[in-house]
Amino acid sequence: MFPTHRPRRLRRTPVLRRLVQETVLSINDLIYPLFVVPGSGVAQEVSSMPGVFQLSVDKAVAEAQTVYDLGIPGVIIFGIPEQKDLDAQGAWHECGIVQQATTAIKAAVPELLVIVDTCLCEYTPHGHCGYLEVGDLTGRVLNDPTLELLKKTAVAQARAGADIIAPSGMMDGFVGAIRSALDAADFTEVPILSYAAKYASAYYGPFRDAADSAPQFGDRRTYQMHPGNRREALREVNLDVAEGADMLMVKPALAYMDIIWQVKQATELPLAAYNVSGEYSMVKAAAAQGWIDEAAVVLETLTGLKRAGADIILTYHAKDVASWLKP
Ligand code: PBG
Ligand code: ZN
Repeated sequence: MFPTHRPRRLRRTPVLRRLVQETVLSINDLIYPLFVVPGSGVAQEVSSMPGVFQLSVDKAVAEAQTVYDLGIPGVIIFGIPEQKDLDAQGAWHECGIVQQATTAIKAAVPELLVIVDTCLCEYTPHGHCGYLEVGDLTGRVLNDPTLELLKKTAVAQARAGADIIAPSGMMDGFVGAIRSALDAADFTEVPILSYAAKYASAYYGPFRDAADSAPQFGDRRTYQMHPGNRREALREVNLDVAEGADMLMVKPALAYMDIIWQVKQATELPLAAYNVSGEYSMVKAAAAQGWIDEAAVVLETLTGLKRAGADIILTYHAKDVASWLKP
């Protein structure tokens, strides 16, 4: 009695396997996050994220050049300002740290895409992603006043030369508000990559060390989504599409692969997945112990994200992956 179907026939040799491989991870899919701090000559490793550094603008420019030379299409910039205040001035001021870094990187490496994270949490003393009234310790983030600050931030970022605006604060109406502000300032050609389905996740822990953006009280559950919710992700996505998003993001990635798949089926827009800080740190910790093969695990994980539907992957592994994928 012989099996009539023998899938192993197509797995027999490396070249056959290469021929029938369905999903291929490419350098072209990757975006590398950068954390920019004030000063010069600064390169401070983030202790919970080995291999990731807070960089001053000069160092960030050098890093951007490295990223470009590796063939990675772009970076996403997060800023740590000199000062924090309730109006998040550091986010929208024309001399804000992200604006400085954007202008400097675009001048030095014009072909590298500069994506900017558009949010307030790094710039407010309370660490929330939106506007809170003076003295409000209940953490009630006010939606529409936040939109006004996000509009100013996005326009300042576009003025500094940002290629893509990526609002991440999960405020209602943020894509529409930013789109109209960009259009009114004549930045009709600047696309919006919306963090459309962003969950309230413990996997962001190490990022908050890197970006100095941990909420000082409360948590982000009044604006980020509950991990148990799947249909709500579609509602968020549909709103962002209706408001004019050009690209969508699901975040985090690993515990949310079903969301990636679902959003991919539901929309035609390019889809990004954010392989977040905690996902990175877990791999780095196990690899440092010699418990896993770092390159193999990372390549498998990112291939899985792509198979689930991600067209673009934001990952702290991007530089390593680029070197591993080099022929
Ligand atoms: C906040 C923001 C977060 C990340 C990027 N922008 C999460 C948060 O603090 O809620 C997380 C990225 C990561 O963990 O790598 N707007
Ligand atoms: Zn935020």
